[in-house]
Amino acid sequence: MIELNDKYGRGFKTLRVSLLSTCNLGCIYCTMGTEDEVSYDHRPQSPATDLVKRIAALHSQLGLKTIRLTGGEPLLYRELEAVIRGIKALGIEDIRMTSNAFLLERHALKLKQAGLRSVNVSLDAIDGDSFFRMTRRKQLQRTLKGIEAAIDAGLEVKINSVIMRGQNHDQILPLLDYAIAHNIPVRFLEVMAMGHLYGNAEQHLFTQQDILNTIATKYNFIRLPRKPSATANYWQTEQGGVFGIIGNESEPFCQDCNRLRLDAEGNIYGCLSNNKPIALSGNESGEELNNKLQQAMQQKQSLHFVGSELSMMHIGG
Ligand code: 5AD
Ligand code: SF4
Repeated sequence: MIELNDKYGRGFKTLRVSLLSTCNLGCIYCTMGTEDEVSYDHRPQSPATDLVKRIAALHSQLGLKTIRLTGGEPLLYRELEAVIRGIKALGIEDIRMTSNAFLLERHALKLKQAGLRSVNVSLDAIDGDSFFRMTRRKQLQRTLKGIEAAIDAGLEVKINSVIMRGQNHDQILPLLDYAIAHNIPVRFLEVMAMGHLYGNAEQHLFTQQDILNTIATKYNFIRLPRKPSATANYWQTEQGGVFGIIGNESEPFCQDCNRLRLDAEGNIYGCLSNNKPIALSGNESGEELNNKLQQAMQQKQSLHFVGSELSMMHIGG
């Protein structure tokens, strides 16, 4: 096992795996809403055995602690349970997923049984019209049922809400109320200059301070200490509810980022901002693999996120 660290002392301990690059929602910050991006496509998906082989190769070099499954939407990946079982068999216990929960109601229990520990659900509105404006899909209720099924199945659940000025900033308090009522944390995300927002995200930015000012109209809260490698800052309300803010612009967290990314085609990336793909087969010798990981480590931006033309749909957040 090698210790890969850059000049800021960052290593790779968390691997984010994008299982496929399609999605059944069309979030406005992520997609342009054009036909060719729409859901339920029947393109072949990479077999679970290939994905697990690449993860195994990375794990053998890095001693990974956490795997986060993302997409697109990971619940559209047909062999999701097999991937989870395969990762577990490598001895990695901390397996998490980021999902829009649209299909979670019927999958939550068996994913938990396969070894999934937690799910971060992307939910940007708690009002049907607002949900439609943000995701271009109706049926908010499906997402809410997915969240409740995950809680019932014993998965740890967090909510992630991307906040855009003029689109859903009126949803901050309803989302927080919902999270408190269900006893789960919610994290508000400043919008990032990714994909089609690259170069023009600023007009949509609702900053960490704006979010705090909004919450302060209803709740008193105190800031909690920041954990190492965390992307979010956390606060606790007087009544005990916890919320976080991922302030990519206001408070960049790049300085202690320990994430490596793997996409569905087998490319690795050291950073969202600087993402020239590095192809990985899983059959590399130790030395070849080491060289590729060094390259990925060099991609890490110094300290500030600069954005990218690549959409989260491909690289999974
Ligand atoms: N800015 C901030 N968050 C984004 N996500 C997708 N695109 C963006 C963006 N441009 C979020 C999704 C999901 C996670 C994977 O990343 O809402 O919660
Ligand atoms: Fe799908 Fe996530 Fe993109 Fe929304 S942000 S369209 S849920 S991949």
